[in-house]
Amino acid sequence: MQHVTEITNWAVDLIGVKKTYARKIQALRGVNIQVGRGEIFGLLGPNGAGKSTLVKIMMTLVRPDVAYGTVLGRPLGNRKKRAVMGFLPELSRFPSYLTAHQALDYYGAIAKVPRVTRRKRATELLERVGLKDWSDTRVSQYSKGMSRRLGLAQALINDPELLVLDEPTDGLDPIGRREVRTLLAELRRAGKTIFINSHLLSEVETVCDRVAILHQGLVARQGTLSELTQHTVEYRIVTSGDVGAVRAEVEKIGGSIDDGQIIVSGHDAKRVNEIIDLLRSRDYLIESVQPRRFSLEDVFVEVIGDAADSVGAPPIARRAS
Ligand SMILES: Nc1ncnc2c1ncn2[C@@H]1O[C@H](COP(=O)(O)OP(=O)(O)O)[C@@H](O)[C@H]1O
Ligand SMILES: [Mg+2]
Repeated sequence: MQHVTEITNWAVDLIGVKKTYARKIQALRGVNIQVGRGEIFGLLGPNGAGKSTLVKIMMTLVRPDVAYGTVLGRPLGNRKKRAVMGFLPELSRFPSYLTAHQALDYYGAIAKVPRVTRRKRATELLERVGLKDWSDTRVSQYSKGMSRRLGLAQALINDPELLVLDEPTDGLDPIGRREVRTLLAELRRAGKTIFINSHLLSEVETVCDRVAILHQGLVARQGTLSELTQHTVEYRIVTSGDVGAVRAEVEKIGGSIDDGQIIVSGHDAKRVNEIIDLLRSRDYLIESVQPRRFSLEDVFVEVIGDAADSVGAPPIARRAS
């Protein structure tokens, strides 16, 4: 009998994932997400967007209503590849009577890592996540941040090909966050694929190669950081003279004046040129025309803000830049 294998280059290829919880809560409404092998992928979205539900479906912990696609080349829901996946859940709880080293040994045993390997790896990982001096302390004594670090070590105990992290820096201080970023960069260099859920823009912006923005159970945007931020939000025209004198005409063309500079919002080169013609005809010297690109934050606010407006919620305030 011929064995047919679906060949896919994606580490994760999710198609049409839907999940409805009790009382008709539609957590996911048809999600499509592709993650390349060896990349760090960030799933960004506000609380309640459906991020945790999606990763639990990937980890076969929650059963979707409908879903197609593959994880590490196996159909979604198949548990075969679970042994080469590492997972840091939203909340990790460890048996409180165990020390950190014992807890890692225990999870390593569940993941069928041979005894000698898992003990050696447990020691290395505790050092790597900054818990070396706390290896023999009972987990019940751990702070939230320490538990998070231990959770990360636990997710790595089987040396996974695919690492899935749900809000990895939740509960960590700025130093801890930076240490996690460094660790993730090291893991990427070692060829791991990493899927991160986060509601924190900065976290996703600094470590991820590709990003999807999830909002109300749907992917609103997906792409590399540069793909998502390639559009121009506005142009700034800097001139030699006082542009106050041409304010009325500039506004008629659709520009505005801010801090002695002319702003043209949107990607509107035609309007920029009309204003330049006006300025040149009045003997202003154009010093520069600067396009400002979207930041990931602009994209996020656009996606989340628009949708919030449409359901009557107050718009989200923009950070002054
Ligand atoms: N076990 C559950 N039972 C019922 N509703 C749930 C359950 N888990 C999550 N939800 C709901 O599904 C939606 C998505 O939640 P979740 O996947 O946790 O989002 P996120 O991780 O992005 O914050 C929310 O409305 C949440 O209240
Ligand atoms: Mg969550």
